[in-house]
Amino acid sequence: MSATPTPADAVVYLPSEDFVKNAHVSGMAAYQALCQEAETDYQAYWGRLAKELITWKTPFTQVLDDSQAPFFKWFADGTLNASYNCLDRNIERGLGDKTALIFEADGGEVTKTSYRDLLAKTCQIANGLKSIGIGKGDRVIIYISMSIDGVAAMQACARIGAIHSVVFGGFSAQSVRDRVQDTGAKAIITADQQVRGGKHLPLKAIVDEALTLGGCESVQHVLVVKRTGAELPMTAGRDLWMSDVIANQPTVCEPEWVEAEHPLFLLYTSGSTGKPKGVQHSTGGYLLHAALTTKWTFDLKADDVFWCTADIGWVTGHSYITYGPLSLGGTEIVFEGVPTYPDAGRFWKMIQDHKVSIFYTAPTAIRSLIKAAEANAAVHPKSYDLSSLRLLGSVGEPINPAAWEWYYREVGGNRCPIVDTFWQTETGGHMITPLPGVTPMVPGSCTLPFPGIQAAIVDETGKDVPNGQGGILVVKKPWPSMIRTIWGDPDRFVKSYYPADFQGKYYLAGDGAIRDEKTGYFTITGRIDDVLNVSGHRMGTMEIESALVSCTELVAEAAVVGRPDDTTGEAICAFVVLKRSRPEGDEAKAIAKQLRDHVAKEIGPIAKPKDIRFGENLPKTRSGKIMRRLLRSLAKGEAITQDTSTLENPAILTQLDQTY
Ligand code: WT7
Repeated sequence: MSATPTPADAVVYLPSEDFVKNAHVSGMAAYQALCQEAETDYQAYWGRLAKELITWKTPFTQVLDDSQAPFFKWFADGTLNASYNCLDRNIERGLGDKTALIFEADGGEVTKTSYRDLLAKTCQIANGLKSIGIGKGDRVIIYISMSIDGVAAMQACARIGAIHSVVFGGFSAQSVRDRVQDTGAKAIITADQQVRGGKHLPLKAIVDEALTLGGCESVQHVLVVKRTGAELPMTAGRDLWMSDVIANQPTVCEPEWVEAEHPLFLLYTSGSTGKPKGVQHSTGGYLLHAALTTKWTFDLKADDVFWCTADIGWVTGHSYITYGPLSLGGTEIVFEGVPTYPDAGRFWKMIQDHKVSIFYTAPTAIRSLIKAAEANAAVHPKSYDLSSLRLLGSVGEPINPAAWEWYYREVGGNRCPIVDTFWQTETGGHMITPLPGVTPMVPGSCTLPFPGIQAAIVDETGKDVPNGQGGILVVKKPWPSMIRTIWGDPDRFVKSYYPADFQGKYYLAGDGAIRDEKTGYFTITGRIDDVLNVSGHRMGTMEIESALVSCTELVAEAAVVGRPDDTTGEAICAFVVLKRSRPEGDEAKAIAKQLRDHVAKEIGPIAKPKDIRFGENLPKTRSGKIMRRLLRSLAKGEAITQDTSTLENPAILTQLDQTY
């Protein structure tokens, strides 16, 4: 490790002395000692932490097995149970009556659940799942909105060794179908409806539709949780009310002790090709990093009230709602709804009401709440008592310095460190992040690697690039919570993450990054593949293109690129060639709407293109390749500097100027 970073030019924010003194990792010397420990004996470092943070049924004797790299195995001969680690052991430690979850519904109703109650509920669901024939290794799709039931359903799967795959409630029937088909799920856990911003939206009805689309023969049962009490058609023999399934089930259920490598969950995420990838995570290594990062990055202590605003449909909700904080016996908020309902003060009011001490959200949310607060003082953070806060976090996309500073000042009262956590669905937990009692913060930089994570920036050949020069972000050594494979597609796993360019040695994150010349601080410069980040949601451009061209009656060809957007970070811009002549005016508007609805139906509303532009053709090279760089310039409204001499029909550039 080099000398202590002393960022010279950028504005630097320091954690207070008090924060440093009381933090789990306290001071730069402590951070460097951990990095040094990992450097000196990598396996001993992770082995020590795995023993300290996880309770094993059978202790492991080997830390890392790299004999089949890049299919790494961690703690392979150890056995454990994730739900035992998150629930039972906290009760054994005397936390049975401690509040585990504070659920606040869309309408503001609050339900609190103790560790004892959460274990009882988890066991009942686990027994219920067993009663319908679900066991170790079976896949269960969870398509539910934010709720105690959702967290308990994940824990219940973990308890019996079933592999959960949570599908975000905003995804379409088609997306649910694709995930059911790919996982071969035996059961789906859902709710009658979900509630967002005062609206009741379907869940079970979408599952019904998904199951009619074909390819879902593996599904034997659909378990339905009552959320709104809506009238629903129930298919006899297949659909069961969760309340009936668990009614007479015992509140105890012996955990299924699984090998550390047993898959805990699959989570689908977008890649650069059309089909989302089922990222497979392990039980032991994943749980270790979820727990460790919750402890070190969020500095979680016994009295904290931790609020991660993410949905359990994303990895952030897995690691920092369902597994990390619970494994440490924390108290956390589970929130249903949207940040802007009943008004844009919802976050601040909830922080005030529940005395939240650690708050973790996405830059998109912050940016939209800044706008709202500037327009209406009543929803400005200063209209609330936010003095309970001691730490803030950001995740999902780069946070622009202006938003960072507002967050620091207006939400954190110039008192709370901000951890800008860089990580991915594939990494299971934080990779590059400040530690709040350690790292001088520079707005817009995720700063330094988490101790033990060998992040680096290299060129196309895998050679290290000097600080100050941008390059490709890689991780040079495996780490416990890394993706194990892509479900059902090990070749794609190797090609996507351990490409031959780096002799299969380095994990390729898919992001570009640059390190500060003086401090070595990392700044993420954005994806280097065809993946967009819209409001912190990852979307593949090809996935959206396939959705557009699947509208076969209308679309001949489509190309999708991202462009910067003040609120959502990136916005989706689609260039479309229709099978009919190029529309204009009201007609173009109507077709654009039709296409957006079609994409919402194929993928989900989050994938709707913000801009749609129609051309008689797309700009292509002589060899017929779409000139995406040119499209990106057009989307941004930039002057065209690229060579357009090869364009068959330069007039289409003017056509593609018009946005609908
Ligand atoms: C991609 C991963 C991490 C959980 C939620 C998103 C971008 C994520 C940051 C950050 C800059 C970030 C990257 C990454 N990203 N966090 N702090 N600063 N960029 O997980 O859907 O797998 O997306 O999100 O581009 O590759 P995901």
